[in-house]
Amino acid sequence: MKTTSLRIDTARLNRRLGELGKRGALAGGGVCRLALTDEDRAGRELVVGWMRELGLEVAIDRIGNVIGIRKGSQDGPPVVTGSHIDTVATGGLYDGNLGVLGGLEVIARLNEAGIATEKPLAVGFFTNEEGARFAPDMMGSGVHQGSMSLEQMLSTVGIDGCTVVDELERIGYAGDVPCGNFEAQAYLELHIEQGPVLEQEGTVIGAVTGVQGISWTEVLFTGTSNHAGTTPMSMRCDAGHAAAELTTFVRGLTREMGGAQVGTVGSIRLEPDLINVIASKAKLTIDLRNTDARKLVAAEQRFYAFLEEIAGKEGVQVEHRSLARSEPVDFHEEVIARVESHAQDLGHPVRRLPSGAGHDAQMFAPNCPSGMIFVPSAKGVSHNVREFTEAEHIEAGGNVLLQTLLELAG
Ligand code: GLV
Ligand code: MN
Ligand code: MN
Repeated sequence: MKTTSLRIDTARLNRRLGELGKRGALAGGGVCRLALTDEDRAGRELVVGWMRELGLEVAIDRIGNVIGIRKGSQDGPPVVTGSHIDTVATGGLYDGNLGVLGGLEVIARLNEAGIATEKPLAVGFFTNEEGARFAPDMMGSGVHQGSMSLEQMLSTVGIDGCTVVDELERIGYAGDVPCGNFEAQAYLELHIEQGPVLEQEGTVIGAVTGVQGISWTEVLFTGTSNHAGTTPMSMRCDAGHAAAELTTFVRGLTREMGGAQVGTVGSIRLEPDLINVIASKAKLTIDLRNTDARKLVAAEQRFYAFLEEIAGKEGVQVEHRSLARSEPVDFHEEVIARVESHAQDLGHPVRRLPSGAGHDAQMFAPNCPSGMIFVPSAKGVSHNVREFTEAEHIEAGGNVLLQTLLELAG
């Protein structure tokens, strides 16, 4: 299909990004809208209001996913777009939000132009994509697409001791629509790249080829707390030291494996967490990712072996549990090619690239033709209050989304 002359209203889309960014705004800039908090509720209410203004039929399912549907001239499964509006605690205005509000901007332009698509179009925001409060990540889309169990996810306990089900009820988003109540014809998500590649190359559009595999583990070392001044170094069972060794090991592992292997220790909590007391407990999280499924397994095996080794050396106990695990995902060749060709028709430099971050799109990929559009992240910064994308890049991504959705929906 040829690219049509219809274009998004970038100023309106940016205004909405700014408005949504006021829900959970942090004093120094950026946003904290952790899933199912009061701030998330405020963001949800704003976006649901916009969905209704645009004439979408809004459904809330049991895991709190919100899907707005615009009817097509034919019945049948909708073409779905969207993303998430929850953020990490130190988030920006664009991660996830761009995909949801970009989808609403497409609907607004279709309404204004009086265009009916053959297939219905749906814009969704999926609960707890970030996984920053409740692990695993991509929870809402995972349940929607049947790769996660609703009951298990509802009983997930967050970092603050609250459960998903209680928080859904508290904020009024425990919907009654069954999860996955419709099949998607196709799924397409607009998102910021969250890395440096597009900007460094001067490329404007990324046609995303897939998402790397992700392995999240929580480790608990239990040692013995004792006096920092009187306990000889040879007699310590120091959980804090084991955590530090593990952190250094993870960096060394990525260096040795090279290639696409990345590894992060993003959280370390010590007990009792005092200057003159040897730590009796250290709880830390390890995030390992690789585009190659076998290499990710190899990284995990070396990590598990090191856990035993360091626990033995330091004389501490070790326990670990998986918080999230997803295999690398390939997006659909036809969707990737359509994104590429619309970007070219619109005159934007485009390249194919894999995603380093997890996305709702990966949950749809096994069940329907799926893909993503990336736009540059200034300085490659994301999960950071300084996250930023230029208006001209938002415009480019929004227009590629509009054209590709129009083609997919007929
Ligand atoms: C989600 O944002 C992730 O990739 O951690
Ligand atoms: Mn995201
Ligand atoms: Mn994110």
